Amino acid sequence: MIQTQPLQPGQVAFVGAGPGDPELLTLKALRALAQADVVIHDRLVSDAVLALSNPEAELLDAGKTGFGPAMKQDDINALIVTHARAGARVVRLKSGDPGVFGRLDEEIDALDARGIDWRIVPGITSATAAVAGLGQSMTRRGRNSGVRLMTGHDVQGYADHDWRALARPGEVAAIYMGKRAARFLQGRLMMHGADPATPVTLVENASRADERRIATTLAALPAVLAAEAVDGPAVILLGLAPRAAATLRLNRQEVS
Ligand SMILES: C[S@@+](CC[C@H](N)C(=O)[O-])C[C@H]1O[C@@H](n2cnc3c(N)ncnc32)[C@H](O)[C@@H]1O
Repeated sequence: MIQTQPLQPGQVAFVGAGPGDPELLTLKALRALAQADVVIHDRLVSDAVLALSNPEAELLDAGKTGFGPAMKQDDINALIVTHARAGARVVRLKSGDPGVFGRLDEEIDALDARGIDWRIVPGITSATAAVAGLGQSMTRRGRNSGVRLMTGHDVQGYADHDWRALARPGEVAAIYMGKRAARFLQGRLMMHGADPATPVTLVENASRADERRIATTLAALPAVLAAEAVDGPAVILLGLAPRAAATLRLNRQEVS
């Protein structure tokens, strides 16, 4: 079996913690966690994953909330640099995959600027875990030949996208950080011709014991979000319904 070189003193591993279920960690992630002297983690990393760290490791919370960081990005960069320069084996643990809406490049740039060695250990992103929970696939022959990973908001506010393309029948998109942007997203999509009956499923706490799936339509999305208290991290899956519901809908169409 190919095995990565152990993490060396002064090196940093950007590790994907996956969506929460510790069994979704990769073996590389597990090894890096076991070797770490310092684990600098995001707020969304589950306790069950953190518990797999080296028991001697120092665990540091660099948590951020959806809108605006709780700890400034520059401070997080400085924290990683300080520990690597002190000779620690540093794991920078990010929820899901570190390269998906994880501000990974900013942290890499900070390390490159100081000549600090780093590596990336990919993880399972929340969208794929959420889609798996629906019993669906991200892409399907004859339905969608591509899929988009989108953010509901960016540094400017609500994020702009190619709404015309997204409004086409059969499109599938996984929208991260989309709860607050739901009304905006719905408005833009319907303005560009999306079918109000387009299936939309919100998956909260994907892969965790308290995973919740709320199946709705584009037309009803903002009202459903307002009615349900969705406090945990959630992905909005545009164009996908849970498999059972999809089968039911198809059956109904065949009967009528
Ligand atoms: C800053 S992004 C980080 C994404 C992460 N790097 C990934 O690959 O999943 C945070 C967003 O990821 C999504 N997210 C993270 N964990 C999740 C989970 N377990 N279930 C559903 N959505 C999740 C939510 O949309 C949340 O607002």
